[in-house]
Amino acid sequence: MQNRGFPVEWLSELKRKNDLVSIASNYLQLQQKGRRYWACCPFHSEKTPSFSLNDEDGIYYCFGCKESGDVIKFVQKMENIDFMDAVKLLAERAGMEVPQLQGDGQRKQNQELKARVLSALDYAYKHYVENLYSAEAKKAQDYIKMRKFTRRELEDFKIGYSKNWTDMVEYLSSKGFTKKEMVEAGICAEKNNRLFDVLAERLVFPIFNSFGECIGFSARALEKTDFAKYKNTAETIVFQKGRVVFGIHILKAQKQQQLLNKIILVEGQMDVIAMHKAGFKSTVACMGTALTKDHVNELKRYNENIYLCFDGDGAGTKATLRAIEMFRNENVNLKVVRLEGGKDPDEVLNNNGKEKLEELIENAQPYMEFLIDYYKSRHDLQQAEEKNKFVKEILAEIKKLGSETLFEPYLEMVRDLTKIPIDILRRDINGTAQEQAVKKVIKEPTVPTERGDEKAVKFILASLLHKKEYANVQIDWSKLLEEFASYLEIIEQNTSLSSIFDIEGASEDAFLMDILNFNFTKFEEDAPRYFRECLWKIAEQKLKKKQERLNEEYKNCEDINRRVEIAKNLGKLALQLKNKSLEEFNGRR
Ligand code: UTP
Ligand code: MN
Repeated sequence: MQNRGFPVEWLSELKRKNDLVSIASNYLQLQQKGRRYWACCPFHSEKTPSFSLNDEDGIYYCFGCKESGDVIKFVQKMENIDFMDAVKLLAERAGMEVPQLQGDGQRKQNQELKARVLSALDYAYKHYVENLYSAEAKKAQDYIKMRKFTRRELEDFKIGYSKNWTDMVEYLSSKGFTKKEMVEAGICAEKNNRLFDVLAERLVFPIFNSFGECIGFSARALEKTDFAKYKNTAETIVFQKGRVVFGIHILKAQKQQQLLNKIILVEGQMDVIAMHKAGFKSTVACMGTALTKDHVNELKRYNENIYLCFDGDGAGTKATLRAIEMFRNENVNLKVVRLEGGKDPDEVLNNNGKEKLEELIENAQPYMEFLIDYYKSRHDLQQAEEKNKFVKEILAEIKKLGSETLFEPYLEMVRDLTKIPIDILRRDINGTAQEQAVKKVIKEPTVPTERGDEKAVKFILASLLHKKEYANVQIDWSKLLEEFASYLEIIEQNTSLSSIFDIEGASEDAFLMDILNFNFTKFEEDAPRYFRECLWKIAEQKLKKKQERLNEEYKNCEDINRRVEIAKNLGKLALQLKNKSLEEFNGRR
């Protein structure tokens, strides 16, 4: 049997050799309590552990955010990689060879294409680097001098140059890459039946993933043109803008060398390089796109001290406000570096020197202080009406901190700015906090389920999946739970709980996850009795439905023989309902 293109036994061995607890302990501080291990959940922010690992079954479950999975999914999420890469990584760690993908033509093709695309990108960036040192690259070399890049930055960031429209096409062809592969890699495009290098005549910055594989490029025009200053690789099978972090491989290395004490987030790759030059090697940028939750989740796993260092202009302020919104409530220590006069880090370094940049970073503000400054700058506090607006806006921000003890220092700052007594500010902020609490009490309506009594079904399926003794009864499940055939099949086929995650789409199936992570503890010794009750509840519903159907048929039936038969069946049904008999569903097992 196979799952996601791998032999089931091979996946089991992979998981045995990479047991969840030892893998997770590379990322998390685990505490053992009984048969479970606990940690603060890496997938949502919390201060007391609700992330639990079941060593025996090799699955994890968060009682807070309900995220669950096996060791492969854990690595996928922690490393921000897909299933195949997580498998590769774990196989490497265990010294196992990844078998040839089997079956499923589409997936196999995708994987093969992905490998070819990565290979093409690898050849491409190295060729761009070579080009930068060739005689035809004078323009690029001059530009580099002008930007004051040293050999060090050129080498660390593998900066290169695309000579012209055709050189890369010829080079990759000579290495055996097809037109399709070059286009899929985002290196080339086609126009009028001719293939050309999309980065032609630009300075090229390769973008690497955390494994140090080149996944795409950002390339700068060398002179003013009507075209975009920077041209980035379009979305490809390996390059997703919303996930890409420029400099992530260097950040990872810093972390591995235990040199990481903060992450500095800047707007563009030039700024990353400038920071690097000034000695701040833990600097990254999101490329040509706003910060996404994927970025946030990835970054906060590396370090909790996040410094936003965006351009000191209107756009930079807007980006900062947005980033604050994204990082707030993510349990990070968020600070803002203030660059004045519309400058970016690269300009500060070149105009004011390394010391100035160090000083600015040293003086980074907690993000709430930045917000106070920001709202203050938008209002004239000498005017009563403006002052009121300011107070309203800033209290709304402070309230988002979520706890009154955290409010206090900022309320004091607002008091100092506005001369409004602190008691009044406290009352105002709590007033609004109470309004919020009221809103929260009004619960979301529960969605009615279509599939009968889901609670009972869940309990039964969970009992079957977890092979409870009391669930070993003579019932034809495919008859009693025919609507849940796909789950029954999973239950029947899976030998270990963690192998459920090998099924495509399993972790997106909320119902399946509920069964898998079912909490039996509250039932204790009542479980067998509750099981029987659930059985009857479902059986009763089915029998009643059948009764209805037969009654209807009886009414409309003209064939006397059939009427007799129906009447007999109805009698049998009535008896079963009266005696709470499961006879109708007796079967194998
Ligand atoms: P900036 O325009 O601030 O770039 O764009 P920069 O760092 O100051 O570059 P130099 O100093 O002029 O060379 C910041 C980032 O926005 C994206 C790029 O990722 C860039 O690094 N961007 C900008 C684009 O994607 N396309 C563009 O045309 C411009
Ligand atoms: Mn800039």
